[in-house]
Amino acid sequence: MILRSKKSSIKKTNLLDNSILLNNYGSEAFDFSIKDNKDIFVCSKSKELDLIELDQLLQTVGWSRRPTRRVKRALESSILVVGLWRHDNKFPRLIGFARCTGDGILEANIWDVAINPVYQGLGLGKELMKYILKILKNIGISRVTLFADAEVIKFYKSQGWSLEPRKTKCAFWYAN
Ligand SMILES: CC(C)(COP(=O)(O)OP(=O)(O)OC[C@H]1O[C@@H](n2cnc3c(N)ncnc32)[C@H](O)[C@@H]1OP(=O)(O)O)[C@@H](O)C(=O)NCCC(=O)NCCS
Repeated sequence: MILRSKKSSIKKTNLLDNSILLNNYGSEAFDFSIKDNKDIFVCSKSKELDLIELDQLLQTVGWSRRPTRRVKRALESSILVVGLWRHDNKFPRLIGFARCTGDGILEANIWDVAINPVYQGLGLGKELMKYILKILKNIGISRVTLFADAEVIKFYKSQGWSLEPRKTKCAFWYAN
């Protein structure tokens, strides 16, 4: 179940000229600033990701490295891949990421939600999640699931996610 988050950290939106936003970040990008921070941040589902930069970002949150070729294929097979950039006209920096798998019609599963530790605690993770859920809703997907590590359950709960709602339970099967 998804509810709207009560609090928002956003200070301003639509800070970039429309043509700059479109040229740099593609369609349906969302630019915003955060309270007590001078940077402009942009969520985009269209801007191409540099796999090395993505690998570096995921390393900053302590995740083990995955072979680039497999990551590339995983991204190609995802129904939604979202980057969060700290805007710069010349060198935008990837500071957040998440992706979704699913059938693209009814169901989606969110994976690999990560914000560079330097930018954590500013509300960016919450904005990234809102952006993803808005896009999924726009394409008609009404059931979204994810696996959360125990230490980040509060992050999702504070945004209205329910832990195993309606008596559903998770089941896992591992090949080894
Ligand atoms: C989890 C993560 C994406 C959160 O991003 P963030 O930008 O720091 O989160 P926000 O600043 O938007 O926080 C939103 C809310 O969640 C809470 N929160 C954020 N990270 C939290 C954490 N690790 N544990 C508990 N609560 C957390 C915040 O206190 C805030 O609460 P509020 O709305 O009541 O003020 C980020 O910490 C991260 O990348 N962690 C490492 C990777 C990871 O564990 N990803 C999740 C995989 S399941």
